[in-house]
Amino acid sequence: MAEDQVPMAGVAMTAVGVAVIRATESERADRLYDDPLARDFVAAARLGFEGTEDGRARWARVEALAAKFFDGRSLTVRVIDDEIARAVDNGCSQLVLFGAGLDTRAYRMALPARVRLFEIDLPELFAFKEPILAAAGATATCARQVVAADLRADWVSALVASGYRADLPAHWVDEGVLDYLPHADALRLAEWMTEISAPASSFALGRFDVAPQRERYAELGRLVGATASADRRGLGPDGERWLAERGWRTRFHPWDDLVESFGRPEMAGGSAAGLVRAVRLP
Ligand SMILES: C[S@@+](CC[C@H](N)C(=O)[O-])C[C@H]1O[C@@H](n2cnc3c(N)ncnc32)[C@H](O)[C@@H]1O
Repeated sequence: MAEDQVPMAGVAMTAVGVAVIRATESERADRLYDDPLARDFVAAARLGFEGTEDGRARWARVEALAAKFFDGRSLTVRVIDDEIARAVDNGCSQLVLFGAGLDTRAYRMALPARVRLFEIDLPELFAFKEPILAAAGATATCARQVVAADLRADWVSALVASGYRADLPAHWVDEGVLDYLPHADALRLAEWMTEISAPASSFALGRFDVAPQRERYAELGRLVGATASADRRGLGPDGERWLAERGWRTRFHPWDDLVESFGRPEMAGGSAAGLVRAVRLP
């Protein structure tokens, strides 16, 4: 793989940090999930970064930030695994991952062949990801579709061209992506998602107070070169009401309940933190 394919800056680079987190979790005896391909992504990314002195310094910052975010972020991976497994067990046959990054659920979750899993992310992310999957000989258990598109533009056409069917329910996943979009773009994304969601489609919206983690988010912004802007707030604090007003039935689930059985005391969020599960009404 050419070194210039390693995302060493920009939002695609944030996916490398999450891969570091998943690789770290996978090493633990008490792991909440196993993601062997995360190790391959991390090894390839490290090689790319370590080519220059500046790159080595940046890699050290990636690892330091991944360590800071590890506890809460790794739990989130498992919570979203569970949300996906639940949707599939309920018969859902379409999964759409917004900003999929270096996600490998198509490979590691034993998803059935009847499921189509659509990964939407930027072209530069897939330029890094796909050669590594190919070199590893990775085989998806479900029908995986790569959708190289910018979520701030028309991603729906690319999704439909990849085989997405608006007449079938879908489960939509936002795992740390909407908050990278300016508010207007996040709202438009949600409008379009709503338009092409058949009844019984589902979506989970995170509700967290990130204020205590402000400093680590600022460091992340400095590292990837994203402009810190008050405008970047995903669906915003009214996201739940927004969904409810557009035909989604919403229900709040406290984070502490969702993670209680994992035996990790981290990220007790207080009663206000959690997931809003939304189901598209007929
Ligand atoms: C923090 S990473 C999370 C990746 C993945 N969901 C995970 O949890 O491992 C954010 C991802 O969103 C993608 N992303 C950010 N802005 C995007 C945009 N405008 N269009 C498509 N993808 C975008 C980035 O490339 C990156 O892969």
